[in-house]
Amino acid sequence: MAARVAAAPGARDDLAAAYRRLNAAYQQTLRYAEDVRRLYQQVQRSIYQSLLGLANALEAKDPYTRGHSERVGAASRSLAQALGLPPHEAEMIGQAGLLHDIGKIGVPEAVLRKQGALDEDEWALMRKHPLIGAQIVAPFEFFAGGAVTIRYHHERCDGTGYPDGLAGDAIPIGARVVAVADVFDALTSDRPYRAALSQEAALDHLGRQAGRTLDARAVAAFVALARELSPATPHVGARPVLAAANAPAR
Ligand SMILES: [Fe+2]
Repeated sequence: MAARVAAAPGARDDLAAAYRRLNAAYQQTLRYAEDVRRLYQQVQRSIYQSLLGLANALEAKDPYTRGHSERVGAASRSLAQALGLPPHEAEMIGQAGLLHDIGKIGVPEAVLRKQGALDEDEWALMRKHPLIGAQIVAPFEFFAGGAVTIRYHHERCDGTGYPDGLAGDAIPIGARVVAVADVFDALTSDRPYRAALSQEAALDHLGRQAGRTLDARAVAAFVALARELSPATPHVGARPVLAAANAPAR
């Protein structure tokens, strides 16, 4: 058995000094790691801001969709949270909701602004927007889940959607969440071809689509959420809600 040798006082001092140096270097590394993390978040925020700028540019092209992206983003985040998805996933789904139609940047304005029904060629152009949107955000690796969500936000649970005709759980959950928020916001906004529906009428419509075109669990959670928030958010899209005081006198 090797005999234990007590370190001489000088060697102990050297060891203590080496430990202090090592510890200082470790603390410095932690500070660098923190700086890198903060810079990475700043870069992410800047990229989101730039993409948001693009989304706003898109809305400037089409007055009927003004505010749509922000509302769909906020509703998608709340719905993802209500479904119990992890916070980072709910955040990603909220961002994807905000940017879901960004691919319409690549759709001709004449098609976007057309008042009447679209013909077959125009529909073919319109149906490209989820793919174009996914391509726009594809270079940002940290937003890979967002690219997938954007790509599939027009898929339908019964398989009749686009671009790939996915059905049921094959559609990523983020895309199923954004689809519910998107349909609700479209229904409660004025469009060139129809006036906005009331919140109740829109929720009834979602209920009828639950388990057909829309995810049943997402619809149930959305309806519960909307009813809970209803008194605080009387907004029903681009058309202002008539306050009781403005109602015609009897
Ligand atoms: Fe869309």
